[in-house]
Amino acid sequence: MLKDQLKGRNAIVTGAASGIGAATALRLAQLGMNVVLADIKPAPLNTYCRQLQSQGLSVDAIATDVSDPDAIAAMADFAEQRFGDIHLAFNNAGIAMHGTPMHQMSLDDWQWVIDVNIRSIAYSVHHILPRMLKHGQPGYFINTASIGGLQVNPNWLTGAYSMTKYAVVAMSEGLAQENRDSAIEVMVLCPSAVATGLGDGASRPERFGGATERPEQSFLADTIKQHGASPDLVAQRVLSAMENHEFFIFTDSSARTVIEARHQRIQQGFDRTEAFLQQVR
Ligand SMILES: NC(=O)c1ccc[n+]([C@@H]2O[C@H](COP(=O)([O-])OP(=O)(O)OC[C@H]3O[C@@H](n4cnc5c(N)ncnc54)[C@H](O)[C@@H]3O)[C@@H](O)[C@H]2O)c1
Repeated sequence: MLKDQLKGRNAIVTGAASGIGAATALRLAQLGMNVVLADIKPAPLNTYCRQLQSQGLSVDAIATDVSDPDAIAAMADFAEQRFGDIHLAFNNAGIAMHGTPMHQMSLDDWQWVIDVNIRSIAYSVHHILPRMLKHGQPGYFINTASIGGLQVNPNWLTGAYSMTKYAVVAMSEGLAQENRDSAIEVMVLCPSAVATGLGDGASRPERFGGATERPEQSFLADTIKQHGASPDLVAQRVLSAMENHEFFIFTDSSARTVIEARHQRIQQGFDRTEAFLQQVR
């Protein structure tokens, strides 16, 4: 049983003040884990932490900007000092960059989306995974990508966001290969639409230009609010995938045909190349 495995073990969840991170942190704590909640927004983070503590759950919070490597190291130190060895890292914090054609994006936004969505995972690989491998106990290293990590939505101007999430999928695949003989299981969460606060530009750190608002991505907030799955359903899906040792964690299969069409285009590329090589040989 997953509960027996997780009870008394220690987790870090980033992006834990809202949405998927908040819901998953709650579920993990309800299973008896000690959970460090990390988020760039201290006020909602601390409010949520107190709310869970008042339910008797073993959680603590540390304000963390995941795009800062020193902050990730400090978060890991905090978790170890507070609870002990880290058994689960849910590298989940992320930001949206939908609705703006890439040639119109500011350089600040390029840096922001790359640093929060991609580099944060590298920082966690650098500062957290070695600690987990060193203690040698079973654990989970779970990265949140997106269904946009496997296809670029043709209607949502989401090239830059998808680029970052492709990178998260690639890092996760590499990590799963590299650590297959270890006690750490690597998984990648690829949600379709989820009804969360995704798209809120208030979290843009000062060094990327500070809080921002991109009205062109308001469709994202509307769409996920109306059609998105509940964050708690996603949290339950993550737990079921942990129980069943799944690498790719999807939340529905709505993108299956788009991804199949993409793979067909790739196959066509190989077919044409084979035909070309036959001609020139
Ligand atoms: N909601 C969706 O439809 C959807 C779909 C696919 C993937 N995702 C991914 O799920 C993850 C969680 O997003 P969500 O949908 O729960 O959105 P959300 O906005 O509700 O939660 C994200 C949290 O991350 C925090 N955050 C932002 N920048 C940060 C930083 N630099 N450091 C630390 N924390 C930071 C935010 O303050 C927020 O609390 C993201 O990686 C997102 O890309 C979401």
